[in-house]
Amino acid sequence: MRDTAATSAQPAMIVMSIWCSSLSLSSRSLAIALVICVTLVYFSYSFNACLLASISRSLQQSNLRNLLALTSSPRNETNNAANSSSSNSSSSRNSSSTTGAPPAQTVTSSLDGAPKYQLLRQQGLRPSRHLPDTLIIGVKKSGTRALLEFIRLHPDVRAAGSEVHFFDRHYQRGLRWYRHHMPYTIEGQITMEKTPSYFVTKEVPQRVYHMNPATKLLIVVRDPVTRAISDYTQAASKKADMKLFEQLAFVNGSYSVVDTNWGPVKIGVYARYLERWLLYFPLSQLLFISGERLIMDPAYEIGRVQDFLGLKRVVTEKHFYFNATKGFPCLFKSEARSTPHCLGKTKGRNHPHIDPGAIERLREFYRPFNNKFYQLTGINFAWP
Ligand code: A3P
Repeated sequence: MRDTAATSAQPAMIVMSIWCSSLSLSSRSLAIALVICVTLVYFSYSFNACLLASISRSLQQSNLRNLLALTSSPRNETNNAANSSSSNSSSSRNSSSTTGAPPAQTVTSSLDGAPKYQLLRQQGLRPSRHLPDTLIIGVKKSGTRALLEFIRLHPDVRAAGSEVHFFDRHYQRGLRWYRHHMPYTIEGQITMEKTPSYFVTKEVPQRVYHMNPATKLLIVVRDPVTRAISDYTQAASKKADMKLFEQLAFVNGSYSVVDTNWGPVKIGVYARYLERWLLYFPLSQLLFISGERLIMDPAYEIGRVQDFLGLKRVVTEKHFYFNATKGFPCLFKSEARSTPHCLGKTKGRNHPHIDPGAIERLREFYRPFNNKFYQLTGINFAWP
């Protein structure tokens, strides 16, 4: 870089020396000319050096951001993921919480030796763990894993691989514990976490608000009847002697009274839970993603998410293909794998046959709650 700058300063020196030698000057004039000459050379050199340094630094930063996104312990995170149960500017990113959050934690000495971190340190970039800027709070069995896996294709999004359950199960462990479960990020990257049970747990809205009232919230929702069947299918896959869906969803064996205490039914009353969140967060901080559309047109929904997060639209149609055998969109490559693949076998299961009479009764049950939800969100999801 120095050689380049010096080379670019040479023409100025040559011109000045020709000019100086062609004039017969008194020694005083000659001294002044020499001072001007040296000053010009100095400024020319400094300008070129600065310009080249700045170009080189921005190129390296962008390469390193991709490097960090692509190489940070992807396999562990994805394995955890497969096993788990279930203002739009970048200025707010990597910020500590507003209420007593511990400061960001930089890479510890045990990691310092890793070539990736050495490279980052050489560039003056210290990766550190931050509390999340964005949470996927639910809704369970609506496509939350698909959303996370799709959005984390973006080089400016880094996510905790498994569900941390901080705000519902581990709150007493404190924010320092929570931050320790976050991935390393560099400046400008968004930290994200998904735990679908946050949406329905009473204390969580207030706790998230206390961590950071500017937290952005992503919520995937799908037809509550399909969601309930999906929830049941997952539970039945873990318990051999599970009763039939129809026996669990209704009281007294007939379809007249819906069992609203049964989890898979209860969670589908979205309006009830949303009202709690709206006590703490304005609607503008919430983004609702259609679970149905996430399957039919993932690029469209991920486009909306990128806009909402103030990100460049990097994840597009070219990242997805439809796997006819599985019946779901899959990825050409991801953080973890460079070959085409679908989500794990626990996502996109075959559902058992449910009596159409039971389905119709459940649709009738949900209709007023769905309408209330459309009213609160300002979106008509058109569930049957
Ligand atoms: P099923 O397995 O019952 O079909 P969650 O990740 O919140 O647990 O949601 C799981 C649901 O995500 C799946 O339920 C499936 O319908 C849905 N889904 C959405 N996109 C998917 C995808 N690309 N691959 C697999 N499942 C997907």
